[in-house]
Amino acid sequence: MDFKDVVVSRRSMRAYDDSKTVTKDQIEEIVKMASYAPSWKNSQTARYYAVLDKDKCQEFATKCLPEFNIRNSKGAAYIVTSFVPGNSGFDTAKNEATNECGDGWGYYDLGLNNENLLLAAKEAGLDTLVMGIRDAKAIREEIGIPDEEIIVSVIAIGYGTKDATMPKRKDISEILHFV
Ligand SMILES: Cc1cc2nc3c(=O)[nH]c(=O)nc-3n(C[C@H](O)[C@H](O)[C@H](O)COP(=O)(O)O)c2cc1C
Repeated sequence: MDFKDVVVSRRSMRAYDDSKTVTKDQIEEIVKMASYAPSWKNSQTARYYAVLDKDKCQEFATKCLPEFNIRNSKGAAYIVTSFVPGNSGFDTAKNEATNECGDGWGYYDLGLNNENLLLAAKEAGLDTLVMGIRDAKAIREEIGIPDEEIIVSVIAIGYGTKDATMPKRKDISEILHFV
């Protein structure tokens, strides 16, 4: 698949084949692609926690996701994405935010990483669903994520069983301004 095809054909998938398993090797390769994203002063604050085992995935989903996200991600593996705050966007020597965005830059860097992750998954024949509606407290307890990390999204990853259509995008004239 060329780059444009990967970008355009990636869809949020809400139906997965439960008989297929995502492997550790696949996740390692995809997260490696995520790690090539740029980050504030190369601070690389994104962190990933992968749940692959089918029974563990079911337990994770039951404890950490709302009903509609459980249903839509059934059969997929999960990647919890988080970041270490106080680095990206900060002058760490002075322990000061460099500008008004503060830890917003940590979210920004994680998003850059995660888009690489979604596209690398698509290129590898896998589908994904980013889930922002999740229970961060339950996730922290279930996975044992350190208190200093900010938990952001859960990404379902697996083999989609449906053709998803692209939700309508805004026209370029609505989002791009030449000044
Ligand atoms: C930050 C973020 C959070 C999202 N959270 C959810 C979610 O909790 N559940 C869900 O079904 N989709 C979720 N989505 C998927 C969006 O609804 C989807 O990306 C959007 O409708 C565009 O569709 P597409 O990904 O197929 O292009 C989320 C997407 C993003 C980027």
